[in-house]
Amino acid sequence: MNSLPESRVTPLRGGPALRWGVLAPGAIARDFVTTLHANTDQRVHAVASRSSERAATFAAEHGIPRNYDSYDQLVADPDIDVVYVAAPHSEHRALALLAIAAGKHVLIEKPIALNAREAGDIAAAAASAGVFVMEAMWSRYLPQSDVISQLLDDGALGDVRLVSVDLGWKNEYDPTSRMYDPKLGGGAMLDAGIYSLWFAQFVLGAPTAVFATGSLAPTGVDAQTVVALSAADGAQASVSTSILINTPGIASIFGTDARLQFDDSFVFSAGFRVISGGSELSGSDLVWEDASGLRGRDGLCWQAVALASYVSEGRTQSPVHSLEQSISLMRTIDDVRAQVGAI
Ligand SMILES: NC(=O)c1ccc[n+]([C@@H]2O[C@H](COP(=O)([O-])OP(=O)(O)OC[C@H]3O[C@@H](n4cnc5c(N)ncnc54)[C@H](OP(=O)(O)O)[C@@H]3O)[C@@H](O)[C@H]2O)c1
Repeated sequence: MNSLPESRVTPLRGGPALRWGVLAPGAIARDFVTTLHANTDQRVHAVASRSSERAATFAAEHGIPRNYDSYDQLVADPDIDVVYVAAPHSEHRALALLAIAAGKHVLIEKPIALNAREAGDIAAAAASAGVFVMEAMWSRYLPQSDVISQLLDDGALGDVRLVSVDLGWKNEYDPTSRMYDPKLGGGAMLDAGIYSLWFAQFVLGAPTAVFATGSLAPTGVDAQTVVALSAADGAQASVSTSILINTPGIASIFGTDARLQFDDSFVFSAGFRVISGGSELSGSDLVWEDASGLRGRDGLCWQAVALASYVSEGRTQSPVHSLEQSISLMRTIDDVRAQVGAI
C-alpha cells in the first residue's frame, strides 16, 4: 500500500437542504444545531420542549423560526421534513414512534433505544410508514470512517485478526443524572460503550460470542465494563468502557499485513496511521489527517448532510449503518449488560 484512499463523504455545503425539527433541547441538541447552522446548509425550522420557556429560549439562541411546548405539536408541523430525537435514551422509542406516525423522517440519538426489542419496534414502524430512520451513530459519518471502510473492503491491512478499543468518560456520581439513573437508561455501555462496540462491529461484523465483566454503580447501572468479542472468522475484539474514568479513546485494527492506529479519540474527527511491517512507528507510515477543520462535536453535522442526501436518493435507511446494524448493536449491549448484572 502506497497511499490512502480519499474520503467519499457527502460535502457539508450544497445538496438538498432539509427543514429539521428538534425534540428535546438539551446538551447534545445545542451542539448539533450549532454545527448544523455553522457548517452546513441544513436548517432547523422548529424546536419542541416540554417547557415553553426552554423552547423559546433555545429558538432565540439558534435563530429557529418556530418553537413548541409539546413534542406532539412539532411532529404535526407540515413544514418539518426530518425530526431529530435528542432526549435521554429512555425516551427514544416513544419519540421516534411519535415522529414516524406523523410521517416524518427521523434521526435518533444513540443508542437508538434502550434494548434490541425497542429498536426492533422502531425499525418495524419505519418500515410500515416508509420513512427514513437512522441512529445518530455520528462517528460512522466522519471522513475517517469512510477511509477506514475502504481500507477494510480492499483488504489493505491483510486479514484482520484483532480490534482493540477503549472509551471512558468520567461522570461524577449523581444518582439522578441520566448517566446513573436506571430510569433514564443510565450506565457506561449505553452511553460511551456503544461507540466502542460499534467500532468493533464496524470492523468485524456482529459477534458470534460475547464475554463481559464489569462493575456496577450504586444505582445498579453498569459503571465500567471490559468485553471480549469473537467474530465468525476467528478474529477477536477487546472493548472497554467506563463512566468512572477518562480513557483516550484509542481504536486500533490489527491485520496480518498492517495495523491501523488512531492518534486521538476515534469518536471525534481524528487522524490515524497505517503501520506496515515492524512494530515501531516510522517515517514510512501512511498518515491520515482530517482536513475539514471540524473538531469535537462540530463533527456532528456530517451525519446530517449524509441523511439529507440519503433521503433525496429515496432511501429509507442508512447504507452504512442500517437499522439492522443498530439492532445488532443493541443485541450485543443487551448481552453485555445482562452478563454484568446491570439494571
Ligand atoms: N452524539 C453525541 O456526541 C452525544 C453526546 C451527548 C449525548 N448524546 C445522546 O443524546 C441524548 C440526550 O443527551 P443529553 O446529554 O443532551 O441530555 P440532556 O442534556 O439531559 O437533555 C435531554 C433533554 O431531553 C428532554 N427530556 C425529555 N424527556 C426527559 C426526561 N424524562 N428526563 C430528562 N430530560 C428529558 C429535556 O428537554 P425538555 O424537557 O426541554 O424537552 C432535556 O433537556 C442521549 O440519548 C445521549 O446518548 C449524544
